[in-house]
Amino acid sequence: MNPPRSDFVAPPQGGAPSGPAEPVPRLPLEKATAVPLLDVRDFSLEFRTRSGTVWALEAINFQVNKGEIVGLVGESGSGKSVLSYAMLGISDRAAKVTSGSAVFGGMDLLKADEGTLANLRGREISMIFQSPRTALNPIRPVGLQIQDVLRRHAAATGADLSRSLKDRAVQALREVAIADPERRVNAYPFEMSGGMCQRVMIALALACRPSLLVADEPTTGLDVTTQAAVMDLITGLARVRNMATIFITHDLALAADYCDRIIVMHAGHAVESAPTEALFARPQHPYTARLMSSTPGEHSSIASLAPVPGNLPDLKRSDLPACRFAERCERATDRCRSERPVLDPTQIHSVACWHPLTSEPDAGSAPANKPTPDPAHA
Ligand SMILES: Nc1ncnc2c1ncn2[C@@H]1O[C@H](COP(=O)(O)OP(=O)(O)OP(=O)(O)O)[C@@H](O)[C@H]1O
Ligand code: SF4
Ligand SMILES: [Mg+2]
Repeated sequence: MNPPRSDFVAPPQGGAPSGPAEPVPRLPLEKATAVPLLDVRDFSLEFRTRSGTVWALEAINFQVNKGEIVGLVGESGSGKSVLSYAMLGISDRAAKVTSGSAVFGGMDLLKADEGTLANLRGREISMIFQSPRTALNPIRPVGLQIQDVLRRHAAATGADLSRSLKDRAVQALREVAIADPERRVNAYPFEMSGGMCQRVMIALALACRPSLLVADEPTTGLDVTTQAAVMDLITGLARVRNMATIFITHDLALAADYCDRIIVMHAGHAVESAPTEALFARPQHPYTARLMSSTPGEHSSIASLAPVPGNLPDLKRSDLPACRFAERCERATDRCRSERPVLDPTQIHSVACWHPLTSEPDAGSAPANKPTPDPAHA
């Protein structure tokens, strides 16, 4: 692998590793059964737009434990961002929560008022956005942006402001391994590379030491080496601080490299949740298996890759099948179209499917769809 970019330096002792590093050790499996930090149940959300209702999320169930790194994986449009925005109370005005709860540290985020959520954001739950250049304020030096966050939450956290906020901002940049932080603290985002801007975003998100970080496609647009360095940094800091992390990505291989557990989403449904090794050893949902077959791996050849057949259904349709994968699934039966399968978040390996890959399709109910044969699952 290439050496890390010269923009970056090794972090201080006790900080996160810098640049491509040894894989971050996984949490022991027993942690998966601990009391969840975040417990999402039966969460449904729709967008009421002029052109109709978008049934964006339906009956979502999942949990995240303290210190756990969870990958939220699925094709574009599967609802990964919408789900995280709703939990942070930053959804579009057209979004309406129609059922469910998202309990974080004993509080239902979906019922909390804006003031409470504003106090939680950045302090208890932080988010790293897909595009750091648009998320950062272009006309404010990055150091001042970090100081704004520290000042905003100082009263609530009881933080000691006697040490200069500028020193703290410099320290925050040092912790994300930005070289020459004393100089960079005065820089504007446009003076920095994409990788450095993403590190500033990480510094901003982690300034108040949140217990849950949501990272939405944090490495989009970065070259492979910088992507690895940024992922090593996020997951390294998560481990050091015992911070739960939801890592949103459409890249199953990237999630496999860094996550303790993976939740697979399809068309607004959470369809499978399992520890990473278990998911790869034995995927149970037909969509998960198809996603794996379409993901390049260490030993896969181009010829062995097969795209997931069909497309995501239009989420505006009033006649969506109960299992939204039914029209793409070779195991689909009448039951799949009429009765919605749901995920049991209390199970270590859980699947929302009437005919998971560990079982045979019901005798007598012939599969309805015949997607392109997939060599890996033929
Ligand atoms: N403001 C909105 N109004 C109407 N529909 C919306 C709105 N925001 C999102 N959606 C729809 O909700 C669904 C989920 O979108 P979302 O952005 O969460 O997908 P995603 O999984 O994050 O995709 P990507 O990988 O492309 O970021 C999509 O069908 C999208 O078109
Ligand atoms: S077998 Fe049925 S429930 Fe399972 S994914 Fe296919 S269509 Fe959905
Ligand atoms: Mg998204």
